Amino acid sequence: MARRIQILPDTVADQIAAGEVVERPASAVKELVENAIDAGATRIRIELEQGGKTKIEVSDDGCGMGREDAVVALDRHATSKIRVAADLIGVQSFGFRGEALPAIASVSRFRLTTCDGEGIGTEVEVNGGRIDRVADVARQRGTTVSIQGLFFNTPARRKFLRSASSESRASWEAVATIALAHPAVGLELQLDGRVRLAVPPGQSLDERLEAVWGAPLARSLVPVWYAAGAFEIAGFIQRPGDAQPTGRRTQLFINGRPFRDNFLVRAAEAGYRSAIHPGDRPSLLLAITAPAADVDVNVHPAKLEVRFRDRIGVERMVEEAVRDALGKIDAAARIGTGAGEREGQGWAAASGPDFLAGAVGDDPGLSLFAPEAGPGPGAAGEPAEDRERPLGEVLQLFSTYLLYQGPDGLVIVDQHSAHERVIYESVMRRFEGGGLPAQRLLLPITLDLTDEELDAVEAYGESLGRVGFEVSSFGGRTVALHAVPAPHPRFDAARCFREMIADLARGRFGGWANRLERFAATYACRAAVKAGERLDERERVALLTQLFACSLPPHDVHGRSTIVQLPREEMERRFGRR
Ligand SMILES: Nc1ncnc2c1ncn2[C@@H]1O[C@H](COP(=O)(O)OP(=O)(O)OP(=O)(O)O)[C@@H](O)[C@H]1O
Ligand SMILES: [Mg+2]
Repeated sequence: MARRIQILPDTVADQIAAGEVVERPASAVKELVENAIDAGATRIRIELEQGGKTKIEVSDDGCGMGREDAVVALDRHATSKIRVAADLIGVQSFGFRGEALPAIASVSRFRLTTCDGEGIGTEVEVNGGRIDRVADVARQRGTTVSIQGLFFNTPARRKFLRSASSESRASWEAVATIALAHPAVGLELQLDGRVRLAVPPGQSLDERLEAVWGAPLARSLVPVWYAAGAFEIAGFIQRPGDAQPTGRRTQLFINGRPFRDNFLVRAAEAGYRSAIHPGDRPSLLLAITAPAADVDVNVHPAKLEVRFRDRIGVERMVEEAVRDALGKIDAAARIGTGAGEREGQGWAAASGPDFLAGAVGDDPGLSLFAPEAGPGPGAAGEPAEDRERPLGEVLQLFSTYLLYQGPDGLVIVDQHSAHERVIYESVMRRFEGGGLPAQRLLLPITLDLTDEELDAVEAYGESLGRVGFEVSSFGGRTVALHAVPAPHPRFDAARCFREMIADLARGRFGGWANRLERFAATYACRAAVKAGERLDERERVALLTQLFACSLPPHDVHGRSTIVQLPREEMERRFGRR
């Protein structure tokens, strides 16, 4: 019987490999630019025509190759980057498979021009995987790879290419990612003769981020710095108030290598907890440094994904890093100043009105606001005497805003947003424990509800009890409240209950991942003191005290600012004193 199993010729094997490594022009661009960076280039030029469908050219000023290497580089598994499998652990270079060049050359008309700076350069022409010509050529040190007619010999693949503009966008993204991974390397991307991305060599990450993502987005970011054991997480995350439902950018690096990981992005979002509106998607760039043995980078043909030994642990670290960074922001939107001018001090340190610390004490008058709230993590660790003493009283403006002199300027607090934050955190804190104090009513309040609202009462019965609503059913559509919470003196229990139940029934806080958080946010929103309510001086002081004891004082449960600051320098600048 004739043998049916054959060893595939190299050209066919290369074409199969090409299917995994080179999916579209952007993947070729990525591989070629990565090779240039591995070759130590400081300037890389990328030119595309028709989104790369007709032409892709990448030139660099890296180490180049001599004649022998230039030919060998086109063989499958030819790599200068690793020698034995063990080298893969902690591999620093982008490349290590020795697959990209032969894969690309097998599905295109390919020309490699290179010179290692010693003697004459070399030009190699390959057609659909077959080396056609090797010749001398004059050129400076460096390498140029030119690809025409990508997928000319694999029409099935060619059919899958999208429009030129869509392919161009994908290449732009690929170059942008590498540009962020290597701020020191200069890059220029031309699409059909027009420069679409140009970054000079020698930039810092901040400068690079601004150049690639644009100033408005870059300026809405705050730094992240977090270390746990041998792991480190550095980068930038968007201020909660600037996050939007659309148009976000995310970028992850592991030991300098870009990768994709939706679970880590979600972990980062979880770090925002209640600081952003459920529909909003914050932009972020996180660079993780991990011991080489804890991450495997060789799990995806195009190296787009990695595998962590302790995935859950890494997710937890990312979430914690984000939470930690948010806790540190002086997130008060400063009037008239850019994000770049913020000092990044913690709120407790920057503006915690320490004259309020201890002001609550046992004074029953002051305990009207959320009497159960204790000092949260935001207030911990900062000895009161170390803080500057804000002076003067707390004023109320338009029955809506609280004003006082902070350590470095005028501070304005939105009373409703602030109280929302206070209630939300105290509910979340108390959920594990015995629940919040309630007030028994002599005469129950009865309410008629719709079917959906009755369903909501049933679904959230436990949680309602925890915040202090004792509800019983009369049968039919009527329910009775026998006990209600008392979060502040002018609290209207019946109205709060109705509004909350309507919100829950309509799924108004539907984007919240966690049921408990959704409930707490709904309750906080409806129970908080409203805009337009007059507070006396003691209530104002008590509210601020509670706010600064929160872990995220600068944001309400919708992710809006609770605090706005007018720094003293800004006043001085405006009045011409500086
Ligand atoms: N721009 C370049 N400058 C200098 N040498 C290069 C350049 N591009 C490729 N080479 C050489 O050719 C070899 C093969 O490149 P190729 O991209 O095929 O494999 P690799 O980068 O080693 O691994 P991978 O397949 O993971 O990218 C490289 O190891 C490198 O030695
Ligand atoms: Mg490579």
